[in-house]
Amino acid sequence: MEIVSQADVRLPVTLRSFIMMQDSHLLRCTGCARAIALMDLKENFRCPECGELYEVEYPAWSDMSGNGQNCAGVTEIAARRALPNVSALRWLWKERRSSTELKDQSGVWRFREMLPILRDEQHIVSLREGNTPLYHMTRTADMTGADRVFAKHQGMNPTGSFKDTGMTTALSVAYERGFSWVACASTGNTSAAMAAYASRAGMRSLVLIPEGKIAWGKLSQALDYGALTVQLKTDFDGCVRVLSEVVRRAPVYLLNSVNPYRLEGQKTPALEIAEQMNWEVPDHLIVPGGNLANGSALGKAFLEMKHLGLTDRVPHISIVQAEGANPLYRAMHDWNGEKLVPVEANTRASAIRIGNPASWKKAVKIVRATGGWVEEASEADIALAKAEIGAEGIGCEPASAVTLVGLKKLMAAGRIEVSHSVVLLLTGHTLKDSDYTIDYHRGTLLREDEAAPQRQEIEFTRRNTIELEADADAVLRVLEKAAGH
Ligand code: F0G
Repeated sequence: MEIVSQADVRLPVTLRSFIMMQDSHLLRCTGCARAIALMDLKENFRCPECGELYEVEYPAWSDMSGNGQNCAGVTEIAARRALPNVSALRWLWKERRSSTELKDQSGVWRFREMLPILRDEQHIVSLREGNTPLYHMTRTADMTGADRVFAKHQGMNPTGSFKDTGMTTALSVAYERGFSWVACASTGNTSAAMAAYASRAGMRSLVLIPEGKIAWGKLSQALDYGALTVQLKTDFDGCVRVLSEVVRRAPVYLLNSVNPYRLEGQKTPALEIAEQMNWEVPDHLIVPGGNLANGSALGKAFLEMKHLGLTDRVPHISIVQAEGANPLYRAMHDWNGEKLVPVEANTRASAIRIGNPASWKKAVKIVRATGGWVEEASEADIALAKAEIGAEGIGCEPASAVTLVGLKKLMAAGRIEVSHSVVLLLTGHTLKDSDYTIDYHRGTLLREDEAAPQRQEIEFTRRNTIELEADADAVLRVLEKAAGH
């Protein structure tokens, strides 16, 4: 088994032995706090005692309690002693980027000390995910009045969404444990990522998607990467119900975000953000909310980084949902986060069209632990914000644009101040749902009544195509007009 990579060979011996030691973890229920042996994990990833979800814990150093001591009794001081010095780790993670090895080139596995979930790193299945850009959003900053706005673009991953970071980890676990089939219910992006990673590993994948309710780009990826793709006559929540039964009755490994190993990979954009900001932490991180796992994954990383002394604080993590798929928003505003009433979800941001999110309790916990907020965005808000992000030359899929709506609302409410630094997490690439974009620019996306409150701003951002005869004079005339002559 090869553990030490090219970059690692140049490390001091203490750091190398730390890396080799880091191969153990446990799973702790987020409801009743019971820890289980890895092999006792049920196929639906739920605690048989209380029905809640698990979280990965590293007894040597991790801390999710937020009170400086984890369930295994590891204080911050003890955790820091278990680690090599912080600057050595930062150096190592950076150094690995120039290595020629797959596990170093991956933006997920180069942080492997923070996610020692595999017995043997030979089992890593990677498409060199992660290492995504952090863009400075100068026009968005001018428009919103915030001083420093950044976009962490997870759409720049190999299959075009943030799902790749969690898929490399959970699928590698499935591979290591000898499964031949993996499966997910999906609004599109998870299925695209799973299909790609399964094929890379020589495994088969089963995708359950709601018929007619996912973007074509994503469906085409699942087909292209070779998944057994089933469209069910139901919504995403119905697909989850059916899949729960399938995994109970067949030896198929579930790769939805209830799988705690997905979240270990989805932690790494937080490490990258900190690294890209010279180990400063932004004041705010704004994340779209669907099945509600991602915000808590990023929050876990920020809490762990602080616990280990890599950073000195955590950002306020806020989650934004579409108005038509807002069960968390309602849970926070109507029930103070104590209860979630499922809704019948309906939004054109199909990635987050989810009415009964599996990880809502984890989301409530992380919003509370970091002092963030939960917001909602109307269909017109989302469409306009997406066009504004596009006009910066960045672009994203509709679900990602809710983050900009969140920024505008939190600024208007005085929760984000002008001097604060803000990172918007853009979760998917603009080409995932080009029909949405074209409909917006053609003016056919929104109904009159939906567009009415933002009519002026929408008209200002719309760029329809112009049809002309194949004649240079005709083109020059429109060019002059556009240039204001
Ligand atoms: N943004 C995009 C582009 C997504 O695809 C999703 C979820 C989210 C945000 C929400 O993340 O579920 O962790 O709150 N897509 C899943 C899928 C449900 O099947 O692709 P979350």
